[in-house]
Amino acid sequence: MTDLTITVNGMKFENPFLLGSGPPGTNAKVIARSYDLGWGGMVAKTFSLDASKVINTAPRYAKVRARTSDEVIGFQNIELISDRPYQDWLDDCRQLKKNYPTKMLIASVMEEYKKEAWQQIIREVQETGVDGFELNLSCPHGLPERKMGMAMGENPDIV
Ligand SMILES: Cc1cc2nc3c(=O)[nH]c(=O)nc-3n(C[C@H](O)[C@H](O)[C@H](O)COP(=O)(O)O)c2cc1C
Repeated sequence: MTDLTITVNGMKFENPFLLGSGPPGTNAKVIARSYDLGWGGMVAKTFSLDASKVINTAPRYAKVRARTSDEVIGFQNIELISDRPYQDWLDDCRQLKKNYPTKMLIASVMEEYKKEAWQQIIREVQETGVDGFELNLSCPHGLPERKMGMAMGENPDIV
């Protein structure tokens, strides 16, 4: 079989196909399903220390209308980060690395403007065995009132 392996920053991928953070990375069950289907790696859905502050709405897509008419020209995704408890995520990451040691697992994390919170989440998630991190400093509908996501990414001083 053709060898598609690739090593990026020390992370060895069976193939260079990695699914971005979002609905396919909602929990260990769906991430495992993607691994079984052949994906080389997964970026899990973004999570934070306190899921109780995350209130998702339904539906999660907003219409984007044309400037000059009422015509709908697209949809904007307004899904927030994961509303699953942090401890569940730690268990999921541990279980996935145990069951799929050769598949790459990137944890996507987001926190408030508090150094200790970022240090805690990185330390604890790293201990589960994940291969890398995505620091979510760009989510446009992250929680701006808590200076999270894009609100942080737009401000080099807090980054
Ligand atoms: C419903 C939905 C939820 C998403 N949730 C996250 C998220 O939690 N964290 C994140 O970093 N990106 C999130 N994204 C962004 C995706 O990871 C990706 O960057 C984006 O969809 C662009 O890639 P695409 O053009 O392949 O869709 C989300 C996207 C969608 C559509």
